[in-house]
Amino acid sequence: MKRVVSGMRPTGKTHLGHLHGILENWVALQRDYSCFYFAADWHALTSEYKDPQIIRDSMTEMFVDWLSVGLDPQRATLFVQSWIKEHAELHLLLSMITPLGWLERNPTYKEQQEELKEKDIGTYGFLGYPVLQAADILIYKAHFVPVGKDQLPHLEITREIARRFAYLYKEVFPLPQALLTEVPILPGTDGRKMSKSYNNAIYLSDPPPLIAQKVSQMVTDPQRGRRSDPGDPQVCSVYAYHRIYTEDEVIREIEEGCRKAGIGCVDCKKILIERLQRHLGPLQERRAYYLEHLDEVRGIMEEGSSKAREVAQETLEEVRQAIGMS
Ligand code: TRP
Ligand code: SF4
Repeated sequence: MKRVVSGMRPTGKTHLGHLHGILENWVALQRDYSCFYFAADWHALTSEYKDPQIIRDSMTEMFVDWLSVGLDPQRATLFVQSWIKEHAELHLLLSMITPLGWLERNPTYKEQQEELKEKDIGTYGFLGYPVLQAADILIYKAHFVPVGKDQLPHLEITREIARRFAYLYKEVFPLPQALLTEVPILPGTDGRKMSKSYNNAIYLSDPPPLIAQKVSQMVTDPQRGRRSDPGDPQVCSVYAYHRIYTEDEVIREIEEGCRKAGIGCVDCKKILIERLQRHLGPLQERRAYYLEHLDEVRGIMEEGSSKAREVAQETLEEVRQAIGMS
């Protein structure tokens, strides 16, 4: 089986954007690939180094969420990046052969500097973010890396580093490919991209009344000031949610009702609240179970990390030999 590797930074609670954008895709890949999924806590540290408590606080809960959405430790290797010290050694070795220009030209580097100004990420570690990511990927000899569009530059740098390693020493790593899945965009409750920092997210952990409250405050078609005004579902965030949670037949009724002012936003939202709660209910039950069995979760993290470590150690030995520092 071909290998898939991907990581997620533990920097807060899981929201519906993570669920539909990333995690459902991870779950689907478990069937056909040998998957390695990890908490990228060292990557989290590049931006959260001043207040690392958030990493500690969100890590175990992130695994709880992964298990609740259907990631299966029997099928996928679930582990913690910083528990596999080999990632750090490979990061160091790869840093020797990575030209500074590749990192300075990395578009996400400059973007993030701007976006996260208050976090002071003008650090050595942050510049090396893509090298660490390359180490994460190459150490498991990944063939595929499921990521969002924003990560494509990092994947390109990973491939460049793998090529350069082969050119300088020996072909040890397959060239990994991005697996870009076209995911439905789920906006935040204010219509912007869903993000913790915009305060517009719906979390997997939100209890039903909170979900109802958030949906009822969601922005709709701004042109639809009154109940009698016709609306355009295409510009409405609520409709974007219906597309994920509601049956086709009802969606068609909503679409037409909205355009002809036959349905009001309050009723439209009521339908969504019901569907959303129905969808999240079983997931939240599993969440509650794992939260009460954190020892089990911890065991899964440890066992996955042991499995990952074995693979990582093997690759690293090959790498050391290729360089002549075994
Ligand atoms: N940089 C990724 C992100 O921001 C997380 C990540 C770290 C990752 N290492 C990785 C993703 C390796 C895929 C493969 O989300
Ligand atoms: Fe959006 Fe529904 Fe209101 Fe139309 S009826 S604007 S789809 S909330």
